[in-house]
Amino acid sequence: MTDDVQGRIVALIPAAGQGTRLGLDRPKAFVELDGQTLLNRSIDAVRASGVVDQVVVIVPPELVDDVRARFPEVSVVAGGAERSDSVRAGLAAADPDTELVLVHDAARALTPPALFARVVEALRGGAGAVVPGLPVTDTLKRVDDTGVVIDTPNRAELRAVQTPQGFTAELLRRAHASAADATDDAGLVEALGEPVVVVPGEARAFKITTPFDLRLAELLCGTPDVVEPDPEEQPS
Ligand code: C5P
Repeated sequence: MTDDVQGRIVALIPAAGQGTRLGLDRPKAFVELDGQTLLNRSIDAVRASGVVDQVVVIVPPELVDDVRARFPEVSVVAGGAERSDSVRAGLAAADPDTELVLVHDAARALTPPALFARVVEALRGGAGAVVPGLPVTDTLKRVDDTGVVIDTPNRAELRAVQTPQGFTAELLRRAHASAADATDDAGLVEALGEPVVVVPGEARAFKITTPFDLRLAELLCGTPDVVEPDPEEQPS
């Protein structure tokens, strides 16, 4: 941890995935939820948080012109084959004086604006890498490629992590310059041996991946937030 960090904040919104698990005819971020695309909702949530100076959206190459026309106030760049390629493309478009970066999946379209502020607060307090996480309620098994259980990790030690994930720009650039592979940005930071801090996540920040998730999101749209007990104090 360092002293309090001030400085410009950019939010990168990767939205370049095809979303094949949703089984629809368009990239996932461009699917509509109660009349608004997932991307539109994610941009609105980032803006509503009031903690971000620049928004960079990363979209499939063929949609760059269209998204630029729809959202003239955000930076729009073309994504790549893997999510990390898309994040790297977004990072390259961040203002040079950016000090803090949030990376937020467009697919987490119902994320409450307060979660962005929570992650930024931890970064401002000196953490180099911050992820929102929730305790897991299912028991998780590690399995081999034939489906036989290898072991059962201690559930109390596990967190299901979400986005926005926050980083100092220097650390995220270093993480993405490495050849390591990971399913989220924090995983690249961990591979550098740098600490990653978990702050309480939000149930509404779930990633819309399957048709079931989309139905759930439709049902939640327009409903008030559920007041949950403090996630860190929930029984495991
Ligand atoms: O595929 P997955 O659900 O993990 O994607 C998470 C987010 O990353 C989505 O918002 C998706 O649009 C984005 N993504 C991307 N470029 C890719 C793959 C995924 O921007 N090549």
